[in-house]
Amino acid sequence: MRTQVGIIGSGPSGLLLSQLLHLNGIDSVILEAKSRSHVEGRIRAGVLEQGTVDLLRTAGVNERMDQNGIIHGGFSLAFSGRQQRIDMQKLTGGKTIMIYGQTEVTKDLIDVRLEAGARIEFECPAVDIEDYDSRAPCIIFEKEGKTRELVCDFIAGCDGYHGISRKTIPQDKILLFEKVYPFGWLGILSDVPPIDEELVYAHHERGFALCSMRSNTRSRYYVQCSLDDHVDNWTDDKFWDELRYRLPKSLADKVITGPRLEMSIAPLRSFVSEPMRFGNMFLAGDASHIVPPTGAKGLNLAASDIYYLSRALTAFYSEDRKDLLDRYSEVCLRRVWKAIRFSWWFTSMMHKTDEDAIHQRLQISELDYLSSSVASRTSMAENYVGLPFEPFA
Ligand code: FAD
Ligand code: DHB
Repeated sequence: MRTQVGIIGSGPSGLLLSQLLHLNGIDSVILEAKSRSHVEGRIRAGVLEQGTVDLLRTAGVNERMDQNGIIHGGFSLAFSGRQQRIDMQKLTGGKTIMIYGQTEVTKDLIDVRLEAGARIEFECPAVDIEDYDSRAPCIIFEKEGKTRELVCDFIAGCDGYHGISRKTIPQDKILLFEKVYPFGWLGILSDVPPIDEELVYAHHERGFALCSMRSNTRSRYYVQCSLDDHVDNWTDDKFWDELRYRLPKSLADKVITGPRLEMSIAPLRSFVSEPMRFGNMFLAGDASHIVPPTGAKGLNLAASDIYYLSRALTAFYSEDRKDLLDRYSEVCLRRVWKAIRFSWWFTSMMHKTDEDAIHQRLQISELDYLSSSVASRTSMAENYVGLPFEPFA
């Protein structure tokens, strides 16, 4: 098989890249290890920054998103029994976020790609990468028990944290930065109305909690849990009790409970690999960086990488320009590190840790400062709605 851009992974990064390239007349093939139903069923992020929403509109995958997505102009921080609203819209000159699940984004992208006749090879794991720094890099993959080759001009490694593309790079050519947090998030999805119109991030001495949603009738809630915890330890009732316990009374009283549609535990990690380009292979999204979910940045960073990569590849094919490909890694990493910083800061402020007693006082002091300082809230709002993309043309 041959194509212009060989994409490994059909998560949001790989699918969005394939669609944006297609709109610019560039051919791609996506290799995906899992089945279509598995990819479409994974419950993950729920918050889209304005830049991500705009990019999905540019990609022409906005019909369902614009019908069903919910625009939010603010969110709340709950701590010490009270609630502080962060008025993002006012503090950022009108910017907002949209609540629309990653699951739906993925479904929309797969639909639009397949309708356009795209080649997405599900259940075809990439097992090796050859000659990524040559003019004809090759992805070795498996299909129906047989080994095959995909030869391309460029490889896009969009295969997530556990993928193969980053792991192909010799250790002396890549720098890795990692922090693993000593706790996880236990999440529940349930067909019950959310407690509030907006998201609530709660600090509590028993641990962090987050009240989110997918629609006016479907809620997504999380509670901080220990790393060795297991979903089997949690009945639905136990989850709802723990959630209520961690919220101010006025909010706890509004929790409507119901059976789980899904429950899962996610570990928290900050991770960056540098650079994001190796010869003619480019890494994007979780393949290159992971943020703890607190800032809702994972999916949005994947989208901003693809914004830059799609532009760089388009400039190469349509204008014979290599300069944007050369700048890709540097430009992405500048934005990545700012999101890593914000997510680490927000995570550190909100979660219970075993650190000294001073740590908890500092958390409350930081939250107090946010309540009393417009400058502090403005900084938080500007990061939460998403920092702007750099000009890249
Ligand atoms: P992924 O979505 O990971 O896609 C990578 C794809 O590559 C997968 O489909 C995988 O099957 C495929 N793949 C892997 N290896 C191979 C191979 N060898 N060959 C072919 N295909 C391969 N972010 C938030 O902001 N909020 C959240 O609440 C949140 N929750 C999360 C929960 C979990 C369990 C995880 C894992 C992530 C979560 N994230 C969250 C992060 C967000 O979902 C990711 O940042 C986003 O999915 C990144 O998209 P991606 O396309 O780069 O990677
Ligand atoms: C959701 C997840 C997040 O990590 C976050 O910060 C906000 C919302 C969610 O799944 O809805």
